[in-house]
Amino acid sequence: MADQDRLSDNSWPWWHGATFYQVYVRSWRDSNGDGTGDLAGIIDGLDYLESLGIDGIWLSPTMPSPNTDWGYDVSDYYGVHPDLGTTDDLERLVKEAAGHGISVLLDLVPNHTSSAHPWFVDALSGPSAEHRDWYVWAPPKAGNAPPNNWISATGAPAWTFDEASGQYYLHNFLPTQPDLNWWNPAVPAEFESVLRFWWDRGVAGFRIDVAHGLYKDRQLRDNPPATPDDPPEALRDGFRTVYNSHRPEVHEIYRRWRKIADGYEPGRVLLGETWEFDYERLGDYYGRDEAELHLCFNFPFVFSRFSARDIAGVVEATLAGLPAGATPTWTASNHDVGRFPSRWCGNDPRAVKAALLVMATLPGTMVLYYGDELGMTDVDIPRHLQLDEISLARPGVPGRDRCRTPMPWTGGKNGGFTAPSARPWLPLGEHSSLNVQAEHADPASVLNFWRRLGALRRSGQIGTLGHLETVLLDDQCWAYRAGETITVANLSPEPAEVKLRRGAGKILVSTSLGQEGIEAGGHLSLGPWQALVAAGAWPVP
Ligand code: GLC
Repeated sequence: MADQDRLSDNSWPWWHGATFYQVYVRSWRDSNGDGTGDLAGIIDGLDYLESLGIDGIWLSPTMPSPNTDWGYDVSDYYGVHPDLGTTDDLERLVKEAAGHGISVLLDLVPNHTSSAHPWFVDALSGPSAEHRDWYVWAPPKAGNAPPNNWISATGAPAWTFDEASGQYYLHNFLPTQPDLNWWNPAVPAEFESVLRFWWDRGVAGFRIDVAHGLYKDRQLRDNPPATPDDPPEALRDGFRTVYNSHRPEVHEIYRRWRKIADGYEPGRVLLGETWEFDYERLGDYYGRDEAELHLCFNFPFVFSRFSARDIAGVVEATLAGLPAGATPTWTASNHDVGRFPSRWCGNDPRAVKAALLVMATLPGTMVLYYGDELGMTDVDIPRHLQLDEISLARPGVPGRDRCRTPMPWTGGKNGGFTAPSARPWLPLGEHSSLNVQAEHADPASVLNFWRRLGALRRSGQIGTLGHLETVLLDDQCWAYRAGETITVANLSPEPAEVKLRRGAGKILVSTSLGQEGIEAGGHLSLGPWQALVAAGAWPVP
């Protein structure tokens, strides 16, 4: 379809080109002064969320959990964690958010449960237990050794020995996160009922945790050694994880879930945490002949270097690898990988604005992590105050708590996140000027810059169209036409001169204040990290 037709076509589903915002619930806003963010806090913050121009929020795990992995160890898929509120609070949030034009997605953790989940407690009671086969069990190898060479996220073997039955159970993460056995038809059947349970309550979709991991090789074969083209974690652990995850059988599950999602009105959305570094295989999760996930996270983008050539290369490879009509997903921060202002931008607000502008103008759906809109950075938390067991188990790896610190609303004690007298569950970073109140008042802040981008995305002027054409690429700058606009970005700390083959058009937004509405010619002088988007209206190539 020509871009012009797409612009006037209302048949695109609501999540196509949407802007989502990940709320790490424990860290966003505490309504009751116990030091932990909660659902009522999000309800209080809906005006703020609406001011960001977002279409939906994804809530990090909300279900009951012993919190050995902060909610990614679920003990009841049909409830709400008492630290965060009640099911009524969640239903109220869904309803009130809708009044602000905001949909609510939850986090679904289908790869594993908590070891405290009644299914696993039952499974542990012995080999004939009703739920025994809901998990992955195997006998020891000679000398009581683990059944194979699989390694968990902590770097230790992915198997824990159960003395009582003389068998090992599998856990690709902590021993308190036993993997479910997706070969047992009772497991997929149960998760279909979990999907329906929440979707019937108005939840707009799910982010699917470890979306590539559900099935394990039936024969539990050893993983082969890693080779130099494998992703960094595979190289670190020495194995290519082809048998304990990335199994083809998972695609059938997503084909089924897609049908259920699309059967709702409006359709519910499936956003996969697809930890996949091969673009073709990433594309497979969208479905080739039959539709699967609506949206898939793009980790090659997250881990790209932030230079013009690197970013342009990853974006173009992504667009080439996805099936026709698939919606790319752009995000650069989350609760695992850290915050892009630190990873990409050396915490320099000019570079943060340039990164936001590039992500916002790429064709597709965008996911902000809470605080990205402020330029919030990773926080250096002393090891003795860190809480994340998974990263603590790997001393050389930066802890994940660095990117989970409370949202700074004001410059005062506890930053307005919780009562000044409370003890926040994690310490806040330096927030005397980096906070919502201060940035709201400053026309040149990252927050006010984001709001202009968010409004342009929401109005459909940027970020929604399928076609991208690079019009200039050198060591400093990347300029591309996406739909009807031209983005010109200097992704370097030095000034740059850019010559385009024709004028870029009226500037819609620039990282430098006061340029909106100015006609940008074909010859542009850009400051360090300066980026702009102009209403190019170049002919469709
Ligand atoms: C995902 C989550 C991460 C969690 C892991 C196990 O990668 O994003 O936080 O530790 O899955 O559930």
